Amino acid sequence: MWSIVILLLLSFLAYVGTIRLIPQLGDLFIKAGLYGVDLCKVSKEKIPEALGVVSGCVFLVVSFLFIPIVFGYNLMDRETFPHSEFAELLAALLSICCMLLLGFADDVLDLRWRYKLLLPTVASLPLLVVYYVNFNSTTFIVPLPLRQFFGVSVNIGPLYYIYMGMLAVFCTNAINILAGINGLEVGQSVVIAISIVIFNVIELRGDQFKAHCFSLYIMLPYIATTLALLQYNWYPSKVFVGDTFCYVSGMTFAVVGILSHFSKTVLLFFLPQIINFLYSVPQLFHIIPCPRHRLPKYSPETNLLQASKTVISKKDLNFLNSIILKILSVLHLIEKHEDSQNIVINNMTLINLFLIKLGPMSEVCLTSSLLIFQVFCSCIAFIIRYPMASYFYDVKVK
Ligand code: UD1
Ligand code: MG
Repeated sequence: MWSIVILLLLSFLAYVGTIRLIPQLGDLFIKAGLYGVDLCKVSKEKIPEALGVVSGCVFLVVSFLFIPIVFGYNLMDRETFPHSEFAELLAALLSICCMLLLGFADDVLDLRWRYKLLLPTVASLPLLVVYYVNFNSTTFIVPLPLRQFFGVSVNIGPLYYIYMGMLAVFCTNAINILAGINGLEVGQSVVIAISIVIFNVIELRGDQFKAHCFSLYIMLPYIATTLALLQYNWYPSKVFVGDTFCYVSGMTFAVVGILSHFSKTVLLFFLPQIINFLYSVPQLFHIIPCPRHRLPKYSPETNLLQASKTVISKKDLNFLNSIILKILSVLHLIEKHEDSQNIVINNMTLINLFLIKLGPMSEVCLTSSLLIFQVFCSCIAFIIRYPMASYFYDVKVK
């Protein structure tokens, strides 16, 4: 427990350090050409981009400093040194470090989408290797109602590794596509991280004590540095966090989910991101045109945001996109206008869906509404994870 107390202290120092570093480095980023323009403001001033690299580096430095603290006690005795736990922590930090590097490359080079899918897969390899060496458990516990068909557990073998690789790809990209308004990328990550910490603290009393302690070792410095970043990224943003931040965050959540064996619970905390991903699928796979930016449209007259639009030429209509448009219209999930040549619909993101359902609103109000929804989904996740899980499993779900 003393190691958690030291980590809390280190995390506080990391928070103070990040708060000081970000304003000092902002100008350097602009000079290096790393800046963006806030598309939801009248002012076209340059705002430093990719500052997630600063919070990410401080997070990693603190985690590295923490290694001798947590393993120091065993360093003298080679016989009893916990090699497997040490390898887990190193692999976790290596995967996060890889993602920081690759995310920064993405911010500088603006990579194509196919690489955005490939990068997290490569970065998750150290993690999967350690998982193979330390656990190699590829078994799913079957819920009670399905046991008559599949038995108590199903071993899915190599498919489990594909599932874990895909989890890393999903977590990194899901945060990046629920983005575009001040404070949303960082805000959602803070809510997910706090939910994971609450879950770990509840589970500390259980038999998986060590795994949840491991998760806390990673999550506490992450939250500290991310809270510092949020102060600058909250409306009106003085810095943008870049894809670097989204990738580091997604990989951090995937890492603790995989190595602490609660990946399904992590996915429950990603409910808004899952909804946003599923809603976005037709645009992500270019079944419906996808502009470079899908963030809401700012109206300077009212200072409010409204849903941004995409145009489909009637000539490009085919069976697949027509049926998707039909289903979404019947379900009232899109706003659709048409003239003789074109059909105009909203860009399919959860952010725009909120604007359609709740009406135009200010940027800060929109971010707050989406974050309240994220908190609401975390509450649902806890209800599914605790009271409801006992209806489906006679043992705890991992
Ligand atoms: C993803 C989204 C894109 C969205 C963008 C916003 C998909 C497929 N891609 O692309 O639709 O527009 O994120 O981050 O869904 N920006 C703001 N205000 C903010 C944050 C960002 O105006 O609060 C703008 C700035 O111009 C900034 C740019 O977005 O420079 C960053 O976009 P980037 O992260 O490069 O976009 P993608 O991740 O490729
Ligand atoms: Mg981005």
